[in-house]
Amino acid sequence: MIKKDQVKYRPVYHFTPEKNWMNDPNGLVYYKGEYHLFFQHHPFGTKWGPMHWGHAVSTDLVHWRELGIALAPDELGAVFSGSAVVDWQDTTGFFTGGEGLVAIFTHADTYPGSDRPRQRQSLAYSTDCGRTWVKYSGNPVLADEQISDFRDPKVFWHSESDRWIMALAAGSEIRFYSSGNLKEWQFESAFAGSDADRCGVWECPDLFPLQDGGEEKWVLIVSIGDSPEYGSRTLYYTGTFNGHRFEPAESARWLDEGRDNYAGVTWSDCTDGRRIYIGWMSNWRYANETPTEGWRSAMTLPRELTLQNGILHQKPVKELANLRGRRQQFRETVLQPESPITLSCGGSAEIIAEFKLLTAREFGFRFRTSKDTETLVGYHVPREELIIDRTASSGAPFHDFYPSIDRVSMPPVQSTVKIHLFLDSCSIEVFGNGGKLAMTHLLFPDGSHYEAELYSVGGEIIVKRLDCFELAASIEM
Ligand code: FRU
Repeated sequence: MIKKDQVKYRPVYHFTPEKNWMNDPNGLVYYKGEYHLFFQHHPFGTKWGPMHWGHAVSTDLVHWRELGIALAPDELGAVFSGSAVVDWQDTTGFFTGGEGLVAIFTHADTYPGSDRPRQRQSLAYSTDCGRTWVKYSGNPVLADEQISDFRDPKVFWHSESDRWIMALAAGSEIRFYSSGNLKEWQFESAFAGSDADRCGVWECPDLFPLQDGGEEKWVLIVSIGDSPEYGSRTLYYTGTFNGHRFEPAESARWLDEGRDNYAGVTWSDCTDGRRIYIGWMSNWRYANETPTEGWRSAMTLPRELTLQNGILHQKPVKELANLRGRRQQFRETVLQPESPITLSCGGSAEIIAEFKLLTAREFGFRFRTSKDTETLVGYHVPREELIIDRTASSGAPFHDFYPSIDRVSMPPVQSTVKIHLFLDSCSIEVFGNGGKLAMTHLLFPDGSHYEAELYSVGGEIIVKRLDCFELAASIEM
């Protein structure tokens, strides 16, 4: 057995496949006490290749057990991204009156006699809780001969109209289709957003309702393959959906203001009312070149989504608290420029902090694993900006696009700034002001133990509360 600490950069509590390449989360569905996480996987190499669906299960969204390949390429092509649902009423007829899991995915090949990509939607079903899958003999179930980028079906049961709805990426728009049986699909409408939002091919949509102060709003998530400034990034709209058409109420916002949260979607069929999201923690600009060996890519933490005044808030799922170990704690402490606080974070940590602004111009954390690698998570008081600077975070720069400094507006609330962050062997996820702002970044530091320095510049701040927990491993290797 390989020990985790022998595998460089291998996350301690983020999901990674045991071996080889992974990209998007697929087929997220909760069924009979298990959260299923399927994922785009190349089981024979550490770079993107013929796509399969890998598979892992968890009962708590924190401890994952990897199972065998769920779906492999066949004569209709490779198996690209898609979703899974529980067919409770056997609308498909696959379950002889019972129930079971149905995966709706993209079959990707090329048009006969040409190398032009062809993408069509197909089905597979499972009667044994996702352990084995049968591809539907009538595949593909949805095709469009005119368009090459036609993929990533996300399906849900729309109870108001008593039928299935599919959101599908088609070039730079999202199309909606409906079906009574998942096999025959009717076109309903297309949604294109503004010109600025269509700055790259659209991928991996998701559509779901959330309560916002007692009112139901629909959230449409769209991932943009390669936006000019940030590479791969995900945006969302809030608005209405009447079973046919999505109407945005506001312009799009970024779901995550960091560099490495892409192709994220939410779990279907959760029974406790939560809407839980997970993303792929990478960016297509350099995803194939990150400096790991034998495995490549991790998922973000699973995050519960809520809406407040039209803004998505993200909170890592509460089950993660079970990983908390040794704690360092401060209450009502004045931080002065000449006496920074040092925290020992081990290889993986969670920090929950609340600061009352006084005279400091800037404050924050410097995370170091060696004298040469440092990641800064700071707050600039006059500009009201959260800053993540990873220009010095990686021992060996591996790609021109990797070094980044991101500054994002985050006004204090009643002179208070809240920062909740999660560090792992190769990542940092920062949630500002109760999850109103999320920033996810890969890091590839020298060394495997983080020391944090809590600093202030130009004056004092009050650390109203700071808890730093070392986190235990949740992924067995
Ligand atoms: C997004 C994506 C999807 C596609 C899959 C292929 O990262 O490009 O649109 O289905 O990856 O692996």
